[in-house]
Amino acid sequence: MPKINAAITAVSGYVPEDIVTNNDLAKIVDTNDEWITTRTGIKERRILKGEGLGSSYMATKAVKQLLEKSGTKPEEVDLLICATTTPDHVFPATGNIISDNCGLINAFSYDISAACSGFLYSLTTGSQFIETGKYKKVIVVGVDKMSSILNYEDRATCIIFGDGGGAVLLEPTTEDVGIVDSVLKSDGSGKQYLYQQSGGSVSPASEETVKNREHFVYQEGKTVFKFAVTNMADVAYEIMQRNKLTADDVAWLVPHQANKRIIDATRQRMGVAEDKVMINIQKYGNTTNGTLPLCLWEWEKKLKKGDNIILAAFGGGFTWGATYIKWAYDS
Ligand code: UT7
Repeated sequence: MPKINAAITAVSGYVPEDIVTNNDLAKIVDTNDEWITTRTGIKERRILKGEGLGSSYMATKAVKQLLEKSGTKPEEVDLLICATTTPDHVFPATGNIISDNCGLINAFSYDISAACSGFLYSLTTGSQFIETGKYKKVIVVGVDKMSSILNYEDRATCIIFGDGGGAVLLEPTTEDVGIVDSVLKSDGSGKQYLYQQSGGSVSPASEETVKNREHFVYQEGKTVFKFAVTNMADVAYEIMQRNKLTADDVAWLVPHQANKRIIDATRQRMGVAEDKVMINIQKYGNTTNGTLPLCLWEWEKKLKKGDNIILAAFGGGFTWGATYIKWAYDS
């Protein structure tokens, strides 16, 4: 029997309409466009406004678009995996809500929580369901409404993040394309540098936790930066070595959009030319699980069948990883 590979056969994305520029943020915290641009590469980000709208709202838009453009009937989907750090609720899983909104009546669904590396973890997990031969259509979503856990009085965090997300459809193929390899890592000892302190079982929500602002993102930026810059570059290099890819073999680097300086360091370690790197951090900021599918969505028209693509991410946990994809179609 020929080996079954899992191929991405369609990509979709969604960002909310409301734009918050660096100058808008400078009106509410002590910051300025020059600092944010030079330290992060971000110029503006999207924010989801509207009562009662959470991550599932954006993901539902993306999944409906994915079904439509791929000509997939909702009932044909076997599985939906949602990577998110800002689920609609602690439970049920946001994946369940998205599936219900999109009429995926025959799919089972669940969430994966791995902060900014969640989309890579989910893509790898989803591809393995396809590779068994038992599952034919798997949707992988990466989405976050980071504005729901940001303290807009903390200039060190509120300037970085934005809202948005995207989705990919995975289908089986016996051609030599698809998800080829992944290197995924985690190290929970990094917890204290990037986390949301309360709202979980260790420290449930109380008047005190709200008063102490423990439901917002806490980040020791400098420390996270050091780990990110080394680990994301290392893992991207490792996957190239392991698959005997030279810099010339790589058509595209799809890096997590946390900081332009981290992206540059990763690119340099890989030896890849600047024009092969997908960067949209200036428009969307760090959408956590949304960054990688949003890049694929935006660059889809430029991708060609057989392109060697390396995705790389680093995030809270710590979690990090890289995935090697041979692109499966010409747009
Ligand atoms: O996606 C998940 C993983 N997360 C990341 O990869 C993020 C990694 N970290 C970073 O990207 C960077 O550390 C930040 C962008 C968060 C911060 O940049 P930095 O160059 O590490 O700045 P810093 O935290 O060392 O702060 C430098 C100075 C400080 O002032 P002093 O102590 O030198 O007087 C800060 O108080 O900049 C100050 N500062 C700001 N100034 C203007 C911090 N935030 C701001 C701000 N505007 N928004």
